[in-house]
Amino acid sequence: MKQQAYTFSYEIYSGVEELTKADADLLLKAREVTENAYAPYSNFKVSAVALLNNGNILTGTNQENASYPVTICAERVLLSAISSVYGNEPINTLAVSYSSKNSNKPISPCGMCRQMLAEYEERTNQSIRIILSGMKGEVYIINSVTDLLPLTFSGTALK
Ligand code: THU
Repeated sequence: MKQQAYTFSYEIYSGVEELTKADADLLLKAREVTENAYAPYSNFKVSAVALLNNGNILTGTNQENASYPVTICAERVLLSAISSVYGNEPINTLAVSYSSKNSNKPISPCGMCRQMLAEYEERTNQSIRIILSGMKGEVYIINSVTDLLPLTFSGTALK
């Protein structure tokens, strides 16, 4: 028997003021567009904002539905938009924020979104840096989606 350990490290900043200007701008944009979320059922408004390699910035927000499972998370709304508009354009940095009356602690993408983000990294051959933060307070920066999804299932298994 062999045992394998998995660890990863990420950065924790006390606030947006500690970030580089480019990262701060992206996070502030994410905070701003939480307002565009359609979340009448959860009142949990999530946003995802991507800085692409080509310099463009695209935003996404969660879109809920009275038939709850129809809901799409902000991250998957954003990835679908990027892919539809720009094809395989790599994502340099992704900022995820949310607005909720209960918390400001950074949230990180759900399992389904991690899977879709991981495939986006793979198909564009580039790691996605992720900035996570609520409407104020602590900010986490993670180097790659695969840090969040060890033993990732990928399409290579289907070939
Ligand atoms: N949500 C996201 O948009 N992204 C995540 O990573 C986690 C959850 C949304 C889905 C739903 O509209 C609301 O947050 C509550 O789960």
